[in-house]
Amino acid sequence: MGYIVPYLGIDLGTSYTQIYVRKKGIVIDEPSILVADRSARRTIRAIGDEAKALLGRTTGDTTAVKPLVDGLINDFDMTQDMLQYFVRKAIGASRLLKPRAVMTVPSHITPVERRVLRKAAVFSGIRETHLHLVEKPFAAAVGCGLPVFDPIGSMVVDIGGGSTEAAVISLGGIVASKTIRIGGSKMDEAIINHIKRNHNILIGENTAEEMKMSLGSALPLKNERRALVKGRDMITNLPQTAELLSSEVFESLRAPCQAILSTIQDVLSRTPPELAGDVMRSGIHLTGGGAQLLGLDQYIASELNMPVLLAKDPMSCAALGVGHLADNYEQLHRINRSSFLREENEE
Ligand SMILES: Nc1ncnc2c1ncn2[C@@H]1O[C@H](COP(=O)(O)OP(=O)(O)OP(=O)(O)O)[C@@H](O)[C@H]1O
Ligand SMILES: [Mg+2]
Repeated sequence: MGYIVPYLGIDLGTSYTQIYVRKKGIVIDEPSILVADRSARRTIRAIGDEAKALLGRTTGDTTAVKPLVDGLINDFDMTQDMLQYFVRKAIGASRLLKPRAVMTVPSHITPVERRVLRKAAVFSGIRETHLHLVEKPFAAAVGCGLPVFDPIGSMVVDIGGGSTEAAVISLGGIVASKTIRIGGSKMDEAIINHIKRNHNILIGENTAEEMKMSLGSALPLKNERRALVKGRDMITNLPQTAELLSSEVFESLRAPCQAILSTIQDVLSRTPPELAGDVMRSGIHLTGGGAQLLGLDQYIASELNMPVLLAKDPMSCAALGVGHLADNYEQLHRINRSSFLREENEE
């Protein structure tokens, strides 16, 4: 049996990396985390799911690394190694042939940041001349089935771990967009700070994320919920427990939710009236894991007086979008250049 050149759709996210393989669907969906030795050579012990399973069980000699911050590469070597591991795992035996790929990139990145992302992808084995970068909100819009090539306006707001990107799309291109470095991680941070200030307890990121998912909301809840949080007492340094109320979590999440709302308002205010009218009718589509915060869709809908729809499978929209473009390569040529960052011509 001959090998077939693999076509991949890659969404390299701050929290999760997903890889779509043509005709197969999403085959990699793992946290963007590595566990490495603390020593200067930083030997890698585990990547992705395996690394997450090790968290909290590691000895003092190892450390967990999240190589991406706010959607951008913070630790280049670790990103390269992680991406190479995921790509190899995704393509398995057909690794003899260099894959082609469509990969998401944050919008509004500098040419230097774009080249760094390209370099990491090429290191992971992607054929350089067949690597296409597509802006994340465009990919997310394709992934949730919006009519991106039609002469009507569609709006997508992707709320990831590291950033929120809001964009209005029409005729295969991004008409207006804005990115802020506020997403799920900043929500977790807001909860950590609240508990520090009001309960004198330091909690970990994972605990904060659990509290966000179990108690958090963008609108006040009718029935108060409560949960016990475990952390370290900031005065005695000993393990300590406190009771946390959903109303407290709601208060801490107010600022990040407001920041997301004003980002959407800003993009809408810069959208041509006809296209804004289309968005009024068809609604704002929310994608990304952070969009799953309880009540966030209703909060935005009530503030803007517009329909807001949470995408089906929000955490996979961007990967499904680049996957769709990998399956339908000819569509890449219909993407408007401003959002279709094809860089074969760049040095
Ligand atoms: N039910 C939920 N409620 C609130 N937040 C959630 C929920 N489920 C997941 N999240 C958050 O979604 C975020 C991860 O989303 P996603 O996988 O879309 O991010 P990413 O693509 O890795 O990041 P980015 O696109 O910013 O680089 C995490 O911060 C996680 O806490
Ligand atoms: Mg994302």
